[in-house]
Amino acid sequence: MRKWKSDRIETIFAHSAEEEHAEKIKAVLKDYYPELDPREQRSLPEILDKLSAWKEFDDFSSIINGLRSEVLYKSRVHGIWHIERTALWCGILCMELGVKGRMMELCTVSALYHDIGRIDEREDGEHGRRGAELFKNAFPEYTGRERDLICALIEAHSLNDSDSGNIMEKFALNDYEPEYQMLLKILKDADALERFRLTEHSLATHYLRNKISLSFVGAALDMVLYQNNNNE
Ligand SMILES: [Fe+2]
Ligand SMILES: [Fe+2]
Repeated sequence: MRKWKSDRIETIFAHSAEEEHAEKIKAVLKDYYPELDPREQRSLPEILDKLSAWKEFDDFSSIINGLRSEVLYKSRVHGIWHIERTALWCGILCMELGVKGRMMELCTVSALYHDIGRIDEREDGEHGRRGAELFKNAFPEYTGRERDLICALIEAHSLNDSDSGNIMEKFALNDYEPEYQMLLKILKDADALERFRLTEHSLATHYLRNKISLSFVGAALDMVLYQNNNNE
């Protein structure tokens, strides 16, 4: 029985037993990421196996399977390919950092809809704010503090880290500060790991906020390479 509604995600998981990009990944790491110790890089198959065995996996996959794709911005760069992979990285980071239950759900939902405020592919710090507004109207099932937390994450994701405190205050989330800051770092790292969809050296490791994310750099390239070759 298939676990994923999306053919794109099924493809990533089906691929997870293969090593067809191993040489390419090794070369990219060597050429562009000399700061990373290749022995500390985790492979995509290993990461996905662990994700599949995660206690939260059924809840996580049903959130992803519930994606309402009609609200997404339609594009190859910021559309559903990017969104699904960002959400996978978000789940992987939640697993590694011990985020579960409702917090895992809110983080994953923010990843699924973080780019709905895009109007084009350009550098645009405002798309998070627009996305948060759109989310409020499109998802009335989320209310109160949970909605505020999702909206704050969406709004802050497109801003500098130094703006995160202002957004927290805007949504009056001061008493949620540790959770908010942790989920924002997860969302931003998940989004940053997805930079490989642009070029094979678009990811800048100094943008990764969690140490564990540094061990996912090769796997993040792997995830993108396979989909670039196999979906369309
Ligand atoms: Fe974004
Ligand atoms: Fe994004």
